[in-house]
Amino acid sequence: MFNTNTITRFQQLETPFYYYHLDVLRQTLEACRTASSKYGFHVHYAMKANFNPKVLDIIREYGFGADCVSGNEVKAAIAHNFGKENVVFAGVGKSDKEINLALDEDIFCFNAESVQELIVINDLAKAKNKIAKIAIRINPNVDAHTHHFITTGLDENKFGINTWQLPEVAEALRNCPNLQFLGIHFHIGSQITDMEVYKNLCTRINEIQDWFEDRGFTIKVLNTGGGLGIDYQNPDTNSISDFESYFKVFKQFLNVKPGQEVHFELGRALVGQSASLISRVLYVKNGQKKNFLVLDAGMTELIRPMLYQAYHLIENLSRKSESPEVGKSESEESQISNLVSQIYKYDVVGPICESTDCFQKDVDLPESFRGDLIAVRTAGAYGEVMASGYNLRDRVGSVYSEE
Ligand code: LLP
Repeated sequence: MFNTNTITRFQQLETPFYYYHLDVLRQTLEACRTASSKYGFHVHYAMKANFNPKVLDIIREYGFGADCVSGNEVKAAIAHNFGKENVVFAGVGKSDKEINLALDEDIFCFNAESVQELIVINDLAKAKNKIAKIAIRINPNVDAHTHHFITTGLDENKFGINTWQLPEVAEALRNCPNLQFLGIHFHIGSQITDMEVYKNLCTRINEIQDWFEDRGFTIKVLNTGGGLGIDYQNPDTNSISDFESYFKVFKQFLNVKPGQEVHFELGRALVGQSASLISRVLYVKNGQKKNFLVLDAGMTELIRPMLYQAYHLIENLSRKSESPEVGKSESEESQISNLVSQIYKYDVVGPICESTDCFQKDVDLPESFRGDLIAVRTAGAYGEVMASGYNLRDRVGSVYSEE
């Protein structure tokens, strides 16, 4: 992924920064477009995963719509030419200001998450003499089998409307003349790699759409959300998610009726492998029990390991030829065994004044030194966008492969 020229380029640059592998981004988008268009599916990019302006512009080139969760994301989608008619707006706590903005922009659809929100959207639309198009986000109680911090579709989660509240929803829809009911929306969690989960989701969606149709509602839009996972362990050998299998599950198991549209909201699977966080070793601390590599990047730049115990592959780019690798030929293996004495275990930590500021414990790396360049891989989704200014640190920069 990083050739000698790229590493030489990094040596001239101030760290830390996000490095965007734009070729990986383009290949991923192409794969998704090919697999989804086979069935006429509509894909909205879940902008929350990464709203770097260059990334947005490239994604737009592939014709995807936008899935937004704040008024500012709606504005960004429109500014980056996603087209207001391709914008969906979800979120359990949309403010009146944000709803008004989306009404003014005539977006494609609000994904409404509570009965109270339906009534608020109706009232605000009425005040503007407008009709708001809405889908109901339903919590289907399907287990996503992912980390509990990124599970959203169980009864105990705050998201969506639970199925036992559907009679109340039906009544609200009948009493809200400024709402146009488009369909139903789901999102059960993120980093889902088991396709069986999506099969279960399809079964629930089929039951729920029947419930609405039995009561005289027409469903035009089936929005299944996002969540498709990526391979954090093998970013080089498996950089593109299996979009073919993913969309095929919906083609096979979702009961799509004539005139219905199927929508998706993918974030991580579109951008996750397209960036690495590049930092330098500031200090090597050799203790009695532990060796620490103290980087110039920490939880302020990439919080996923600290917040979700997420794994990200860590590489020392300055000693790349010495890195331990699996899958080598026998002769290479014997060369590697000669290097074993140089392989160290390090806790790779950031500079922030918090014990939790650790990217990973006991990482096998070649002996590392102050000034070495370190790559934290698969950081394109929920990386740069979740950076914070804690400790009054500088905002992390971005560098692109096509510059
Ligand atoms: N649609 C809705 C309504 C969502 O809430 C999300 C993500 C998506 C779509 C896109 O999901 P994706 O395809 O990216 O899995 N910060 C966490 C992930 C939070 C996901 C939030 N919602 C992480 O770093 O793992």
